[in-house]
Amino acid sequence: MKKLVNAMYKALDLTIPVALHLDHGTYEACLECIDAGFTSIMYDGSHEESFDINLKNTKDLVKRAHDKGISIECEVGSIGGEEDGVVGMGEVADPDECAAIAECGVDFLAAGIGNIHGVYPENWPGLQFDALAAIKAKTGDLPLVLHGGTGIPDDQIKKAVDLGVAKINVNTELQLVFADATEEYVKAGKIHEGKGFDPRKLLKPGYDAMIAKTKEKICLFGSDGKGWN
Ligand code: 13P
Repeated sequence: MKKLVNAMYKALDLTIPVALHLDHGTYEACLECIDAGFTSIMYDGSHEESFDINLKNTKDLVKRAHDKGISIECEVGSIGGEEDGVVGMGEVADPDECAAIAECGVDFLAAGIGNIHGVYPENWPGLQFDALAAIKAKTGDLPLVLHGGTGIPDDQIKKAVDLGVAKINVNTELQLVFADATEEYVKAGKIHEGKGFDPRKLLKPGYDAMIAKTKEKICLFGSDGKGWN
């Protein structure tokens, strides 16, 4: 896998740090990805039966990940979202639990501050900035991660960054622009023009739309022009 990551750097002529990262892994999935040569993992222990199990597994995985020189993100306070058609409001993490996970030596911390995965419901109250400030006060310089980046208003994103968020996960928004662009291509009948059915052509508009959206997000998040330091 390390060879694959190195090949990716060469083939894509990358000039910025890129990680091959496991998102929301169970304890077992993290072990597999550490072995497989991922360069970064996220252990989501927020669904474990108790916080003590989350803490114990976090300690163990931090050691295993760091022994292999890879970074590790852990989570406190589950990120809400749609489950079986029911959209839950985001859970807010306990600052003391965040501090305990931070002390394990994690490289980044995902802490629920009312954020949820997927499209936000109309009655979503917004990010809980008091909670973010309280977590920041207890975790110092540890980079915080904001999941559920899709659909959070730009001003709230900027405020979260100002308050210590250093990584923002966006997935659904990229899926949506991909789907829209692909739908447009198919509806315009381009699939039947020449070799328009070739997957390389069929998937190109969606791919380009995801690149454009990603560039937009990089600028919004204040990451433009930042490479190795
Ligand atoms: P969205 O799909 O809501 O953007 O969330 C992505 C995410 O947090 C992945 O971990």
